Amino acid sequence: MLDGKRILLIIGGGVAAYKSLDLARRLMERGASVRGVLTPAGQQFITPMSVASLTGDECYIELFSLKDEAEMGHIRLSREADLVVIAPATADLMAKMANGLANDLASTILLATDKQVMIAPAMNAEMWANKATQRNIETLRRDGILMVGPGAGMLACGEVGPGRLAEVPDMIEAIEDFFTGGLRPLAGKKIIVTAGPTHEPIDPVRYIANRSSGKQGFALAGALSAFGADVTLVSGPVTLDTPPGVTRVDVETALEMDAAVKSALPADAAICVAAVADWRMKAGAGGEKLKKSKEGIPALDLCENPDILKGLSSMTEGRPALVVGFAAETEKVIEHAKAKRERKGCDLIVANDVSHSSGVMGGDDNQVHIITESGVESWPSMRKDDVARALAQTIADTLAH
Ligand code: CTP
Repeated sequence: MLDGKRILLIIGGGVAAYKSLDLARRLMERGASVRGVLTPAGQQFITPMSVASLTGDECYIELFSLKDEAEMGHIRLSREADLVVIAPATADLMAKMANGLANDLASTILLATDKQVMIAPAMNAEMWANKATQRNIETLRRDGILMVGPGAGMLACGEVGPGRLAEVPDMIEAIEDFFTGGLRPLAGKKIIVTAGPTHEPIDPVRYIANRSSGKQGFALAGALSAFGADVTLVSGPVTLDTPPGVTRVDVETALEMDAAVKSALPADAAICVAAVADWRMKAGAGGEKLKKSKEGIPALDLCENPDILKGLSSMTEGRPALVVGFAAETEKVIEHAKAKRERKGCDLIVANDVSHSSGVMGGDDNQVHIITESGVESWPSMRKDDVARALAQTIADTLAH
């Protein structure tokens, strides 16, 4: 089942470190290749020799090793894997990850990797329950880190509670699920996403448009689909590929988008990312091109488009359990977005600064604030893909409650 998969196994310092040797063996039995990294604390519990003997590969231990860096630099180690697994993940390693520290080989790999990371925490129950650890776990979850365990029971320190390293078969199952898409917290959920701009024709050749690229909405549709959701993506005119597994409906105008969203209902959640044009030509586009004339510049007689988000939020029957809007603002981002959430009646607003200097419109990065009834959470600037994954996790968590 894991044929040809390359797993980078980072072994942290904990009594349970010996179990990761069994994990390596079982992964290899299933066809995976395993490369081991042992932290200095991990070496207090098992030896590099046992890791190397079991994996049939070198065991990497030092960041500043001339030999290792020459043969296999930490950047290559972090990239030449299909999945990075940390078992046991100590409170210290998780704190480093959550805060982006990189002062040894393991933490540097974790900061440099572009691959999915899965952690199997193991620690004392009080350390697990500590607010700092829980904060870090929350951050890691939001960053899209997968987690298996910990289990509860008798711990090596003699105390009882949560903090036991997940059993090897459970770790194997989680790893196999990752490769087979089994970790799908949104399986069975239907989600509608709107994305991109709309084009409102002025005449047969001209239209009103905006600078939305559709990247954030497409990334979100892809992340929701990867989480197992049945996603219908209603997209305005963009030049993006449809994410795998997503059903795409192409539209041009706000009226078409509104109709497409309505016909995709019912849904468990609706996420309105589209930059819908607020106005359209009152009399429609007309059949002929507007010509310059002696009468001067033509006045554009506009009327308001339907507000798709507001319409979804105020449905009395069959309203999606979760309605999410985006607020594109150029000033007083949070203040305006809070007011927008109330005005539109949606459950959650993702606010971002789209002023020209932010580079968000059309760019690859985004810095968002999550606004709900209970407050505001500001996320750091991230790639739109990472924002999408973190949002998909938030949506999964919200639908699960
Ligand atoms: N939206 C929508 N239909 C519209 C206008 C907006 O569904 N006709 C949704 C967008 O998809 C987004 C949210 O409403 O989720 C906010 O969009 P935004 O353009 O920021 O707000 P507007 O309603 O256009 O308000 P304003 O232009 O005053 O900022």
